[in-house]
Amino acid sequence: MSQPRVIITAPVPADLREQIAARCEIIDVPAGNSLVEALDKEQRATIDGIICTMRSKFDESILDAFPRLRVVSNFAVGYDNVNVPAATARDVLVCNTPKVLDGAVADLTFGLLICVARNMINGDAHVRNGTWASKGAPALTHDIRGKTLGLLGMGRIGRVVAETAKAFNMKVIYHNRTRNTEAEAAGIADYRDRDALFAESDFLSVHIPLNPETRHSVGAKEFAAMKPTAYLLNTARGPVVDEAALIEALKNGQIAGAGLDVMELEPLPASSPLCELPNVVLQAHVGSGTVETRRAMIDLAVRNLLDAVSDTRPQAMVNPEVWTARSETTNA
Ligand code: 8YV
Repeated sequence: MSQPRVIITAPVPADLREQIAARCEIIDVPAGNSLVEALDKEQRATIDGIICTMRSKFDESILDAFPRLRVVSNFAVGYDNVNVPAATARDVLVCNTPKVLDGAVADLTFGLLICVARNMINGDAHVRNGTWASKGAPALTHDIRGKTLGLLGMGRIGRVVAETAKAFNMKVIYHNRTRNTEAEAAGIADYRDRDALFAESDFLSVHIPLNPETRHSVGAKEFAAMKPTAYLLNTARGPVVDEAALIEALKNGQIAGAGLDVMELEPLPASSPLCELPNVVLQAHVGSGTVETRRAMIDLAVRNLLDAVSDTRPQAMVNPEVWTARSETTNA
């Protein structure tokens, strides 16, 4: 039997690549290149699996261009780059990398929180520019201890952020589609309805996935409800926030500032008004961007790929119903 053929369009370290090569035929497509244009129709019809970053989009037409495809293994926990119902309808497993990045993303969220609360980026410039000597100490900032952190979304990452906040003696409240009674009972966070969450939070941190329902779900109405002293943090997905409305709210003082690891358009152009605002701290979508976490993510993504192409149940599936249906067909 011929080996499965897989496309690699994610940064796979040499040792993992060897593992793939031992069991599959590899076709490399540099990240960012069109998968459809990189291969001709005949080649595409031989592809069993793809390991990719969020930069590879899988809509219906792309899925149709790979009629033999059995798995899209995403090197990310988020999977808004894949039309999952369309993949499921075509018997394509979608795999992702949950859990292994929770700590790193929570750490970056908290880093942004402290940075905005203590005005650290401007403080750094104050020292480097020599204005400390000429103008004296910078303006006082505010404590985070005793303040309220509101979590929009209480999945795995939100939960780690909540635990971190507890170590800083913050009060933690959350809103989620389903209540996390376990976290509430453990004293980690208290539930609020959505309006109360925005109104009460001193720091509002976004931890919900991007999908058609959540796109632009944080916008003018939400900023109007927030305290003028409050900060928005987003380490989830840029388009969950209406960026134009955010820029307006930051400019007119409706909220005090923002810490953003994600934006609507990435890479964010330096010409974006966000880059002009002194009350914003920006990062280049690096929540999971540590050596240890990225390694754990690619380990899991490669394992998911190899399992899926060799008919072994992958560890992390977004649409496990595809697996169930396959197993029923095999056992029938
Ligand atoms: C990216 C992320 O995956 O996991 C996610 O959902 O947004 C990030 O961790 C990272 O840029 C690697 O592609």
